Amino acid sequence: MSVREESGGREGFRETVPAVEFVGVSRVHPGGVRALDGVDLRVERGEMVAIVGPSGSGKSTVLNLVGTLDAPTEGTVRVFGHDVGALDDGALSALRARSLGFVFQRFHLAPNVRAVDDVADGLLYTGSPARVRRTRAVEALTRVGLADRIDHRPHELSGGQRQRVAIARAVVGAPALLLADEPTGALDTASGAAVMDLLHELHRDGVTVLVITHDRESAALAPRRVEVRDGRVVADSATVSVSAREGRS
Ligand SMILES: Nc1ncnc2c1ncn2[C@@H]1O[C@H](COP(=O)(O)OP(=O)(O)OP(=O)(O)O)[C@@H](O)[C@H]1O
Ligand SMILES: [Mg+2]
Repeated sequence: MSVREESGGREGFRETVPAVEFVGVSRVHPGGVRALDGVDLRVERGEMVAIVGPSGSGKSTVLNLVGTLDAPTEGTVRVFGHDVGALDDGALSALRARSLGFVFQRFHLAPNVRAVDDVADGLLYTGSPARVRRTRAVEALTRVGLADRIDHRPHELSGGQRQRVAIARAVVGAPALLLADEPTGALDTASGAAVMDLLHELHRDGVTVLVITHDRESAALAPRRVEVRDGRVVADSATVSVSAREGRS
């Protein structure tokens, strides 16, 4: 039994709709690769979770399933209580636009577009006027420490600054859940630390954060760590170590 199940103090917590819930989730690719194999996972609203594990273990698959960029071949994925397998394309787009923010290792910034315009484009789905989008984009860029770079284009920014623009774009719509796939993977130590600080700050502000990281220090600083290996969750700092349990049986 997990610590969470045993802990009476968290009973009330369990009754709320979690941000993410995986029930028996597998993702088998054509050809037979089991990217994920029977994963159960629950992430409460407001948690910050580091997903760790070796290359090819299934980390990005977890994130892509949460982000509804991929679909399970078995089991159920719920995001804020919605069974994503049961949503049509329109509902999926709405969920992605309103509730989810994505940050990737490679920044995916449009070439030649000024930071403020790139971030403002993150609000196109809201239908709000350009002036409002711009104001909110400036706010988001200020928040990530780039108030003095709003008119810069990607080639006029450092790698760390580009990643902060990407984060500003991901959070400008105030998503409840931020998904970051190795956001520091292409950055030097100092820029990487600044990006992780930013994720912690968003977490403190109430955003649920799922971040994949290869960096041991970053992972150690996350309030919760989930370790994936061969498509399975083998350890979760929120519960008794799964591998320790399996080792005993
Ligand atoms: N489209 C696909 N077709 C077949 N196999 C795939 C496909 N996408 C991923 N895989 C396999 O699924 C497994 C999990 O991939 P995933 O991208 O989730 O790993 P990861 O833990 O994110 O690795 P990395 O740290 O290298 O990014 C890998 O073995 C990979 O080769
Ligand atoms: Mg990956």
